[in-house]
Amino acid sequence: MSEAVLEFSALKKRKASTYQDAGGWVSACAKVILFGEHSVVYGQPAIAGGLEQAIRVRIESTADVSRIVIPAWRLDCELAEQSTQSGGVNLLQQSMTLLFNEFALTEPVLIRVEAEVPHASGLGASAALAVACARAVALFVGQDPSNERINDLAYQCETLAHGRPSGLDNTIACYGGLFRFQKKSEELVLEPLSIPRPLRFLVALSGVKGFTAKTVERVRQAWLAKPDMYNPLFASMGALVAKAEVALKAGDLQTLAVLMTENQACLRQLGVSCAEIDEILHLATQAGALAGKLTGSGDGGAVLLCCGSDKAELEAQVQATLEANAYLSFPVVLAN
Ligand code: MEV
Repeated sequence: MSEAVLEFSALKKRKASTYQDAGGWVSACAKVILFGEHSVVYGQPAIAGGLEQAIRVRIESTADVSRIVIPAWRLDCELAEQSTQSGGVNLLQQSMTLLFNEFALTEPVLIRVEAEVPHASGLGASAALAVACARAVALFVGQDPSNERINDLAYQCETLAHGRPSGLDNTIACYGGLFRFQKKSEELVLEPLSIPRPLRFLVALSGVKGFTAKTVERVRQAWLAKPDMYNPLFASMGALVAKAEVALKAGDLQTLAVLMTENQACLRQLGVSCAEIDEILHLATQAGALAGKLTGSGDGGAVLLCCGSDKAELEAQVQATLEANAYLSFPVVLAN
């Protein structure tokens, strides 16, 4: 067994308590997809990395009814067993009910959430919330489940929210790090990717909310209508992943940038890019970024930009250009 596989089997067994700090806050990762969103749903490989500490959750007893409070998302809602809400809040309530039932939590609790990433932005916020809440609920009732069980529960929550998730978001939210991910029929193949040094990217926010379930379903309908057109497109997206793995392992950002541009062209062909994403890519490359692509499900959400290595000045220039055009951005670092 390779060292990476051995390490990963240890990671699967890691306990929820590993992710809890001295103040009782329990964390999970958001994610960026470098290559392979959408095509991953159809069995092609993808490459994604975790953004540590993106969601932090703390649970305390309350005399009141159970509620979840997420100030960064302006969300404060009761967790009633029978939801009277619609849309996202309802789905959040259903996920929480699933977790409460799983860990036999019956007393009312207050769930406080600190979020470093916006929701519906392609950065895996809902999966990170599910992972952090699953860990926090388990620890609150005195259990300490493994990552494997937490990931399974988060997948169930993601299924409620997104209908047919590949499992990539919850897996990265749970394990963090940098992975090649592939779903072969029902089997999930996850390989840690070893890179020579941490990689820095910029994430720019389009300001348009992207709704994964809706976009994934639209792509599915298009694929069902014309499989002969979409299967080769998904296969070429998968082929980019194989090339990207080689470039990542060699730390070759020039090649990586070319591959990102090609992946973005495929995503545009799939119909999941939008005017704001195209504008961000135009502004960023004009300001000197090597390349970029949407990350996540698209139709808005976020853009991942590659500026090259050790290019702090260039990064600042790209960020200033985006800000002048009302697009927020921030650096992210991906490591093994
Ligand atoms: C969403 O972050 C990624 C998609 O590929 C959907 C999925 O993998 O479940 C669009």
